Amino acid sequence: MEKRITDHPVLGPLEDVKKVTIFVDGELLEAREGEMIAAALFANGRQYLRKTVKRHEPRGIYCAIGRCTDCVMMVNGVPNVRTCITEVQEGMDIRTQDGLGDWSDGETV
Ligand code: FES
Repeated sequence: MEKRITDHPVLGPLEDVKKVTIFVDGELLEAREGEMIAAALFANGRQYLRKTVKRHEPRGIYCAIGRCTDCVMMVNGVPNVRTCITEVQEGMDIRTQDGLGDWSDGETV
């Protein structure tokens, strides 16, 4: 079940927008077109996005402006994507990043 503010006291009611489908660790989720990945995951009840390199501790949204890198995830096979500043796109494959991420899906140079 999505958790969203549907009637904000300053911004007003949540407008209807097109929905897109994303895949998060293989699970199909619905997101709002134009929203950031981290916001879509948070609205779907997902609060951790990656695990730290040394202790594998969970991390989630911290700065939400693209500065801290706590929200990095694997997106379409690319590691270290800052999900708080990356918009969802139809069919995106998003995975929890463990440590530095996995580069094996990417093309070799
Ligand atoms: S939450 Fe800090 S870069 Fe995304």
